[in-house]
Amino acid sequence: MALDETLRRRAELLRKEIEEHNYRYYVLDSPTISDYEYDMLLKELERLEKGHPGLATPDSPTQRVGGAPVSEFAEVSHRIPMTSLDNTYNPDELREFHARVIKAVGEVEYVVEPKIDGLGVSLVYENGVLLCGATRGDGRTGEDVTSNLRTIRSIPLRLRGGKEQIGEIEVRGEVYLPIGKFKSVNEERGKNGEPVFANPRNAAAGSIRQLNPKIAASRGLDIFTYTLADLRGDFPKTHYESLELMKELGFRINPLIRKCSGMDEVLSRCRELEEMRDSLDYEIDGAVIKVDSFELQKKLGLTSKHPRWAVAYKFAARNRTTKLLDIEIQVGRTGKITPVAILEPVNIGGVTVSRATLHNAEEVERKDVRIGDTVMVERSGDVIPQVVRPLPEMRSGNEPHFVMPGACPECGKPLSKPVGEVDTRCTNNSCPARILWRLKHFASRDSLDIEGLGPQTIIQLLDKGLIEDIADIFELKRQDLLKLEGFKEKSAGNLISSIEKSRNAELARLLNGLGIREVGRFTAQLLSSRYKTLEALSSATEEELAGIAGIGPKTAASIATYFASDENVALLKKLSDLGVSARKGTCGGRLAGRKFLFTGSLESISRGDAEKLVTSQGGIVASGVSKDVDYVVAGSDPGSKYEKAKELGIEIIGESEFFGLAGPVPNGSKKQTQKTLF
Ligand code: IVH
Repeated sequence: MALDETLRRRAELLRKEIEEHNYRYYVLDSPTISDYEYDMLLKELERLEKGHPGLATPDSPTQRVGGAPVSEFAEVSHRIPMTSLDNTYNPDELREFHARVIKAVGEVEYVVEPKIDGLGVSLVYENGVLLCGATRGDGRTGEDVTSNLRTIRSIPLRLRGGKEQIGEIEVRGEVYLPIGKFKSVNEERGKNGEPVFANPRNAAAGSIRQLNPKIAASRGLDIFTYTLADLRGDFPKTHYESLELMKELGFRINPLIRKCSGMDEVLSRCRELEEMRDSLDYEIDGAVIKVDSFELQKKLGLTSKHPRWAVAYKFAARNRTTKLLDIEIQVGRTGKITPVAILEPVNIGGVTVSRATLHNAEEVERKDVRIGDTVMVERSGDVIPQVVRPLPEMRSGNEPHFVMPGACPECGKPLSKPVGEVDTRCTNNSCPARILWRLKHFASRDSLDIEGLGPQTIIQLLDKGLIEDIADIFELKRQDLLKLEGFKEKSAGNLISSIEKSRNAELARLLNGLGIREVGRFTAQLLSSRYKTLEALSSATEEELAGIAGIGPKTAASIATYFASDENVALLKKLSDLGVSARKGTCGGRLAGRKFLFTGSLESISRGDAEKLVTSQGGIVASGVSKDVDYVVAGSDPGSKYEKAKELGIEIIGESEFFGLAGPVPNGSKKQTQKTLF
C-alpha cells in the first residue's frame, strides 16, 4: 500500500477514535481514556494533517479549535421555518392548552422537557457530515455560524452509529453557556474592564455571534438538541422516539426529558423541573410540553406564529425592576473598592434581592445607572444578582450620577486608581474594613482554619475592642468570649481550644492567612516548601524570589514589600512572641494530604512518574475533577478537565510550579525524548 494511503487510513482511524472519545466525554459524560491518552491521539492527528494538508477534512476533530476570523456572517434561509412557542404562565392556562388539544384530537401522550434559556440553532447534515449551523434569526432567515458551532464538542461533526446513510438531516437545539462558565467569563471581563454579560443567555448569544471562532471556542458553550426537523427516509412515529434516534446519532439530549400522560402528570413534572432550577448548571426558564405523536402533531397543525401541539410553561421571571436607592462602596480584603447597588428589596424567583454588584466605576458609567433610577435586576442560578440596565424613561431628572469618592468611606484615607488599572483601591492597611476582611481570611478554612471563629464572632470582637489585628486572636481569654452574644462556657472553651490548636500551624496556612497580595494558597505552599521558616522567607530578596519557578515578578515584589514594612515586621514579631510558630508541612512528605490531578502532557516527566512523585511525597492523585482536588497540574494542550477545574475554581498550576511544590525530579525518571519510528 502506498504511504499516502497508509497515512490517510491512519488519519481516518484517529478521527473516528477521537470523535468517539469526544462523544463519551461530552455527550455521555463517561470517558474511557485519560486526558493524556486523548491528547496523544489528537496530537498525532494534528501532526499528520499539518504534514499532509490533503488529509484534513471538515469533520476532523482538529477543526474544533476555531478557524480563521470572518468579517461577517452569511445569511441562511431555513428550509422549514423555526417557529417559536406560545407561552403559558400558570396551571390554568396549561389546562386550557390541554383542553384545546383534546378537543381537536382526543387524549394524547405528552413529552415534557426543560426549556433551556439559550439560543436556538439549526444544524444541517449532508452525507452524515455537519454542513451548516445557523442561528434562528427571525425564524425564516438566520446567520451561518457553522465555524463557531463546530467548536462545541457535543455537536457531532459526523453522525454516529453507522447512520451516515441517513444522509441529510436537520436537527435543532439550544446553545447555552453553563453557569460556571458564565461566572468565569464575567469575572475575566470585569478584571479587563470589559462590559459584563447580564445573564448566561446574552453570553451564549454574544459568543455564538463572535466573528473570531477562537474566542467562541474559549467560552465553553454547550448544546441540548430537542427537535428532529428533517430527515430523508423513515421518520420516527413519536417525538420521544426521535429524541432516542438523535441520541443514537450522537446528539446530546437533555436527561430530564420525560414522557407524561395526562395533565396531572405534566403539571407535576413541571413543578419538579421548577424545583430543580437552582441546582442545574444551566439556566432553564420554563418547561416545554409537546404532543408526542407526530401524526397528531400534524393534525393539530400551526397557527400563524406557533404550533398548536406544543406550549411553553414559563417559570417565574428571573428579572424584575426595582428602585436603585443608593450606591454603596464596599472595601475588600486587598483594598479593592466595589460599587454595590442598594435596591428596594424585590423578590426575584423566590429570593429577596436587596443588593447587586456593579463591579467597578467604569461599569457604572457604561450602564449609566443613576441613584434613584428604576433599574432592571436579573438573577441567574446561584450567580450574584446583576443590575442589567436603567429605565431612563422612568427618570424624574433629579437622579444624581454616581461619583467614585476620593476617600475611603471606611477610613477616610485617599483612594488610588493606578493608570491603566480598572480597580480603585484603599491602600490604608489599617482601614477597618480591610482589618475585618483580614481577620476573616486569617481564620478561614484555607488559612488557619480556626473552628468557631466566624465572621459574626469577629465583628463582635472588633466592636468590643477585644481584637485589632490577627495576633490579638492569640491573646483572647475565655472571659473575653463570654462577653459576646451567644457564647456560653462550652462554646467559649471550644473556641479557645481551636485557637490553641492553630498556634502551631503549617507554614503554608500561616502564609496564606497573612493575606500578602498575590500570595494565595498555591504560592503559600510553594514558598513553604522552599523556605523552612518565616524568618528565612522574610530575608529573601526580591530577585531571589523572582528566580523561583512559579513566582512571577509581581508576586516577588509584593512579598518583598510585605516583609519590608515596619508594620508587618511588628505584627510578625507580635505573633512569634505569642508563641505562634509555623510548622513545616505535615508528617509524610512535602505534599502530605494534598490532592493532585494531571491533565495534558508534561514536558520533563512522564505522567506515571509525576504521579509516583506525588504519592512518594505523601500526596494523593485524583482520578477526576472534583471540589476536593487541591491542584490541577496542566501540561501542554490540557483536556477538558482543565475547563472543569477552572469552573470549580481549583488552583491550576504548570509543570514548573508543580516541581516547586513536589521537589526535584528523582534521578532516572526524566522523560525520554520520543524516538521517531519512521
Ligand atoms: S421546541 C416549535 N424545546 O424556546 C417548537 N424549544 O419560543 C420550537 N427552547 O425558539 C422549539 N428549550 O429556542 C423547544 N426543549 C425545548 C426548548 C426550546 C428551549 C427555545 C427555542 C425556541 C424557544 C421557544
